[in-house]
Amino acid sequence: MEPSPSLETVPTPALVLDRGRCERNARRMGERMATRGVGLRPHLKTAKCAEVAALAIRGHPGGVTVSTVREAAWLAERGLRDVRLAVCPSPTSAEGSARLAAEGVRLSCLADSLAGVALLAEAAARHGTRLAVLVEVDTGEHRTGVPPESEALLAVARAVHAAPQLELAGVLTHGGHAYGVASRQELAAVAEQERAGVVAAAARVRDAGLPCPEVSAGSTPTASVVEDLSGVTEMRPGVYLFGDVFQAGLGTCALDDVALTVLTTVLAVRPDEGQLVLDAGGLALSKDRSTSGRPDDAGYGLVCDLAGKVLPGLRVDDVHQEHGAVRHVPVEVLGRVQVGDRLRVLPVHACMTAAAHDRYQVVDGDGPDVVALWERCNGW
Ligand SMILES: Cc1ncc(COP(=O)(O)O)c(C=O)c1O
Repeated sequence: MEPSPSLETVPTPALVLDRGRCERNARRMGERMATRGVGLRPHLKTAKCAEVAALAIRGHPGGVTVSTVREAAWLAERGLRDVRLAVCPSPTSAEGSARLAAEGVRLSCLADSLAGVALLAEAAARHGTRLAVLVEVDTGEHRTGVPPESEALLAVARAVHAAPQLELAGVLTHGGHAYGVASRQELAAVAEQERAGVVAAAARVRDAGLPCPEVSAGSTPTASVVEDLSGVTEMRPGVYLFGDVFQAGLGTCALDDVALTVLTTVLAVRPDEGQLVLDAGGLALSKDRSTSGRPDDAGYGLVCDLAGKVLPGLRVDDVHQEHGAVRHVPVEVLGRVQVGDRLRVLPVHACMTAAAHDRYQVVDGDGPDVVALWERCNGW
């Protein structure tokens, strides 16, 4: 008989998801949004997984957000058929969106330019279907989107409304600049800037005699602190489902809430260098250094024991493709670790770390048993 899969035996490096923590994170955010009277449309760009989506929408209307057409198709095949693609269109993504809409998926898209509107309208016409479109508004992130007070906002909204293949579904923003703040107070200010900006955009669209039923906002940091969401109809946080070391530094979760770790094996114990070398390098952990320059700089991730308990002071300081070096390891710790031992690493940025892995080894609690394997849909 095959032994049951366990963190003691599965090949490493491997991506481990703690289902209990993920459910708790989902429930907390769900309650937060419900008590503030807005819908939750979780962003699945981090999880890229139908099983995680299912637990994220429990008790909510069921709509989800994605960042690629591939995620949209993957989730739709698995029964999630109200999908918002929250990235402005390219010719190929417009084509993919229209194909899914023609197959009966309730797909909504973004546009922030007349060229984007044309791509969506032409693709929808080619597939004999209609697409719902939200105008993307830039409330301070300065990535994509039109400023709330701009002429472009109304020009894009009018173009969507005028296209027979498109339906103007509303306005949408992402307060991604929340990631750059230094304090909770500043974070609350960004959350209000996001809310006020998108609500002002909706008012201008309505004042121009156009429909604007949906007013969509959100990131994990803003959704985690915001109190007043008047005028907003839905929020779209995503990384809250897992959390990570960066989010813990922002104060949107505790390290004990982080549901994602990378399981790794010790390849070398080097007392001469005060160093442990792991089989989790840049590919398995990512080279995201979001916490660099902060007092809580976690290098490429915080080292934990096999049960997921953080080992104080140990972080992955350096990575090669398949090696991760933990430096400045106290002698007494080096004396307890052997080649072949297993550890876990808490990721700095869950979205980037998860991206190199094609599945989750799902665990529940501190035990080593792998209770399920959940597939991810990477790529484009
Ligand atoms: C448009 C959009 N909405 C929502 C989110 C989710 O935000 P977070 O990753 O902070 O959970 C993102 C993340 O990049 C996004 O780009």
